[in-house]
This record gives sequence, C-alpha cells and structure tokens, in this order.
Amino acid sequence: MSSATGQSTQGSQDDVPSAYPPPPEFAENAVAKAGLYDEAEQDRLAYWAKEARRLQWDTDFTDTLDWTDAPFAKWFVGGKLNVAANCVDRHVDAGNGDRVAIHWVGEPGDTRDITYSDLLTEVSQAANYFTSLGLVAGDRVAVYMPMVPEAIVTILACARLGLPHSVVFAGFSAGALRSRVDDAEAKLVVTTDGQFRRGQPAPLKEAVDSALGTGDDAAKSVEKVLVVRRTGHDPDLNWVDGRDVWWHETVANASDTHAYEAFDAEHPLFLLYTSGTTGKPKGILHTSGGYLTQVSSTFHNVFDHRPESDVFWCGADIGWVTGHSYLVYGPLSNGATEIIYEGTPNSPNEHRHFEIIEKYRVTTYYIAPTLIRTFMKWGREIPDAHDLSSLRLLGSVGEPINPEAWRWYREVLGANSAPIVDTWWQTETGGMMVSPLPGVTATKPGSAMKPLPGISAKIVDDDANEVAQGEQGYLVIDKPWPAMLRGIWRDNDRYKETYWSRFAAQGWYFAGDGARYDSDGALWVLGRIDDVMNISGHRISTSEVESALVNHHGVAEAAVIGAADETTGQGIVAFVILRGSTVDTGDDLIKELKDQVSKDISPIAKPREIYVVPELPKTRSGKIMRRLLKDVAEGRELGDTSTLVDPTVFENIRKKK
Ligand code: WTA
Repeated sequence: MSSATGQSTQGSQDDVPSAYPPPPEFAENAVAKAGLYDEAEQDRLAYWAKEARRLQWDTDFTDTLDWTDAPFAKWFVGGKLNVAANCVDRHVDAGNGDRVAIHWVGEPGDTRDITYSDLLTEVSQAANYFTSLGLVAGDRVAVYMPMVPEAIVTILACARLGLPHSVVFAGFSAGALRSRVDDAEAKLVVTTDGQFRRGQPAPLKEAVDSALGTGDDAAKSVEKVLVVRRTGHDPDLNWVDGRDVWWHETVANASDTHAYEAFDAEHPLFLLYTSGTTGKPKGILHTSGGYLTQVSSTFHNVFDHRPESDVFWCGADIGWVTGHSYLVYGPLSNGATEIIYEGTPNSPNEHRHFEIIEKYRVTTYYIAPTLIRTFMKWGREIPDAHDLSSLRLLGSVGEPINPEAWRWYREVLGANSAPIVDTWWQTETGGMMVSPLPGVTATKPGSAMKPLPGISAKIVDDDANEVAQGEQGYLVIDKPWPAMLRGIWRDNDRYKETYWSRFAAQGWYFAGDGARYDSDGALWVLGRIDDVMNISGHRISTSEVESALVNHHGVAEAAVIGAADETTGQGIVAFVILRGSTVDTGDDLIKELKDQVSKDISPIAKPREIYVVPELPKTRSGKIMRRLLKDVAEGRELGDTSTLVDPTVFENIRKKK
C-alpha cells in the first residue's frame, strides 16, 4: 500500500483539488510529525509504551502488552494509575489550576467557567459522597444526564474511585435505561430533574422513576438515585424517600479534599452499551491504562493540541463514545480548555454554534457529518455572519463524510485552509484508529486516509487476502491496540463471536465496516456491512427497531432497513405486516407505530417512513431479504430476486409505497 502522504495536490479533471496538503506553517509547527509513522512501525509496542508514559503512573508498568490470552488483552501490565487524577489533579499540581477546563454553555444562555482547581474540588466532593454511600471499587454507577457540568464531575468521580460508569444517553427511553441498569446491576443512578431541550424544560427524572419501577417490579440493584437540580421546573416531581437524594444537599456539602488510590491498568473504567446485530445492546467494556493512553495520545496528535492557546469543542453528547473519549478523557487528560454546550444547534436559532465559536475563540471543532449537512441546508450566510477566524482545525466523526460536505466544511468554516481530520473509530476501539495527522497528511475529501501511528488495519476479502486498490472489502484490525474493548460485559462468548470469529484463523478484529483503498492507497470507509444502521452518526440495529414495532399489538411482522438520506446519512424505513384483526387506519396507525418506537427505544430511532405491506420478501430459509427492501426504499431496480420464495411480493409492496 503506497502512502497518500505528501503527494501532488492537483489532479482531477474539473479543477477541484483531489488532495489538500496542510498549510506550510501548520506543517512546520505541527505537534505530530511524519516521523511518528516510522517510529511506530519500527517498534509498535515501544511506541505505545512511550505514549503511555505521557500519563502519570503511580506504579510504572513492567510489560507493554500481554496477548497470551487473546482476544483478551492486557496492556501496561503491572502499572497502576488513577484516571481522574490524570485528568484533574495532575494539571493542578503542575501549576495550571487556574486554567479553564470547561466553558459550559447552557441552552437558556446561562454559562459557567470551570477551572481545573474547581474541577478538583467538585470531583473530590462527589468522590467523598459516593464513598459515604458505601460504594467500593468495582461497583457500577449508571449516569442518565444531559450535558451539565455535574455529568462530567460524576464520570470523573467514578473514575477516581474505580467505579465503572455506564452512561446512558438521556434521550433513551425508560425501558432502555432499565435494561442497562439491570444488565450492569448498577447501585447508584445519577440524573437530573429535567433538561432544557429546544427552549423548553423537559422532565428527565420521570423516566428514571418509570425505569426503576416500584414494589416487586423495582430494579433490584439500585440503592440510591442522586438528582441534580437543573430546571427546577417539574411540578410533578416524584420523590422516593430513602432512595432519592438531591445533589445540592449531599455532594455540595461533602468535604472537598480527597486522596485518590491508584488502580491497576486493567481496572474496568466504564461500560457503554451499543447496538449490535441482534436486539440486545452489548455492554462494551473499557479499562483504564490502555484506554487513557490511546485517547490521550490521539487527542494530542490528531488535534495538534496546544494546551495554552487552544479551545477545543467536541459536539458529541456524553451518552456516546465520542463524548467519553473526546469530551471527557482525551481533552481533560491533556489539560485542554474545552466547550461543553447543553443544547441543540438551533436553539434559540441556527446561529448558536457559530456564536459560541466566535465568543470563545474556538480553535478546534469536532462534529458529525450530519451536522455539517444540516449547516449546509441552513445556508452559508449563517456562519458567514460570524468571525470564525479562530478555527484552525476541523474534525469529523461518526459516519462517512461525503466530499461535498467535506469541501463546504473546509471552505465555509475553515476559511479554505484549516485541515480536516476525518477520524474513523468505534465504541469498541475506544479511540481513533484511522485518521489523517493534520500537519502531515495531504487529505482527500471523504477519505479517513490511513491508520494512525501504532495502529495496524487492513482491508481484506472473504479469504483474508488484502484487496487490490480500487476493490472493496472488510475493514479488519490485525494487531491489538491499547484502547481496544476488553470484552462485552458478562458475555465472553458474544465478544469472541461478534468480533473475532470471522477471521479467527488470523486472529483479526472484524470491525463490521466495508472499506476500499483508492489508487493512491488512501482508505475509504464505506459504512456498515451488517444489520447496524447509522442515523446521524448514531448506531441503531435493525432488529431493535423491528422488535419495537412488533411490540405494537397490531403488528405481526416488521422489517427495517437504513435507506440513504441526504442529511442524516441513513434514514430508517420500516415495512410492517399487520395482524389479521388490525384495521389499517392509515396515518393514525403510522403515527402510533412511530410513537411506539420512540417510546421503546428513543426518538432517534423513530422511522422516517413506515409502509404497511401484505408480505415481506423472504428466502426459502425464511430470512428477510433486506437488501431488496433497500432497493425499493432507495428507488432502485431490484437486485437478484432468484432466491425469493415469491417474487411477486414486490408488486404488492410497490403498490403500497
Ligand atoms: C461509523 C463512533 C466513516 C462506522 C465513533 C463505525 C465512520 C461506526 C466514521 C461506529 C468515519 C465512525 N467514517 N464511518 N470517520 N466514524 N463511523 O460505535 O460505521 O457510535 O463502525 O462510534 O460509525 O459507531 P460508534
């Protein structure tokens, strides 16, 4: 595979550059230089050991990697560290306590600037209170919170005490929260009374109450629910005496000094549930030393980070892995100053993000392509009305970015010069895996370019042979990496089966994405090849939505696919067969079905379209042929229908569409 780095910039027929080299001054002063690739290639483990030593270890490690029990890795064997101390205390000890860690911006316009010293105080208080509840290292804590500072404080207090956190996106339903609380057997749930969403206070604790249930139905593991008062607006706020406590009456009064303990490098840091190909979400397990090493190192190199002058903004929610790695652990372990914004990009209007960039002089901005396409739809006059000259580096994550959106991003937000880092990674990989280095790589719009230093990935065919340039295949990771998942919570078999069985003979990790190399050897990620959809950068499995639909009493069977969508990447399209007794009430029924999915999973999983059909296309073995439904939904000619039991089903489906 030839390197795409440093190649010619002009090329395509229509005068649009095919590759964009970094601006010369950027390249000259870059944090990460081209030499990193060679260094890591020569001795991958030595490279990661060096990156690990950017952190503060209370006991140094003796071995970089133990892979003898593959696919269960141990990184930085024998090492001990405290993840929260690396994110907070270390910077205060180095004399940077007055540096702002977080410029927090609430949706209604309230703001808070939190320094590293402030963070140390608050994290210590939370840690002291959690300890007073009897929680000990290893106990799990569920976090169901909007983007308020206390969410970060909670996460760091958990890390400080060795309590694995399980953050559940606050947009998920009560049912989704309950199944995650039960699976992890969380003892403590931290939440807020409500949240501001599109200008309105909306209740949140209500969902916790409904999730945790009462009496015989109560979640058995939960001892306490800790509530932050955010909106103060829920007139019907329910309170369970003995179980529920207010943050401002407990944490806020706890002692603000706390001596941390160092934990083993492999101590579990968090669980994060993500959609797989079956209905039941998997609890992805990450541990301490390897995870922090990779997210800290990639934050430093890929974001060309300068702690004294940069202001970083990652637009992800803490409920997703991007929030964990590049809103909490990556930036804070580097002593960064960052923005945390509570609300949606169009509250109170579409200028919101650009006002924040302008006000805080944001230098580095990291968002999903869906948001870029939304900005494009709103029109460039909106960003053009603001001084965005502080932006010097732009990032993209979560889904493939189309070249048109890439070019718009660079031109309109990046003043035609800011490098773009298109970073491919997953909940499972913990940190970035494939991405340009901003001062080194001549980037191509739409390509994540090549594996980062220390990472080894390939694109292979069914027989594990590397594909030729121009061909597509499966993206695999052929060497262990520090932030790799350590398993699926209490399900080792599923872990091995999901990720390591496809190329078991080779011992490679199967990512579930299709990809190809272009004629210059640059890597293009094409998207999921399994039954996982990607809606606005959020992973949702077809079977999760299908089971929500059949939960409706009127539905006999459902098939769900992700169809191409101009803004959200993919949109959910569902085909349902009704039970014989169900009366098709048209739009009312469709609305009911959409609401059912919203309620069972989350509004983000609500289908864009639902079609009531008489039959579904099935193979002789009874498998629904989703590929054909996708053809129908995207308005294409049907692909191969020869394995269908009844090729005429499409006549009927088309008639309904
Ligand atoms: C997709 C989000 C193309 C991919 C960090 C992957 C991407 C899934 C990119 C993981 C990218 C993520 N280009 N596709 N730069 N980044 N993906 O677990 O399909 O929420 O498998 O992690 O998102 O989604 P997850």
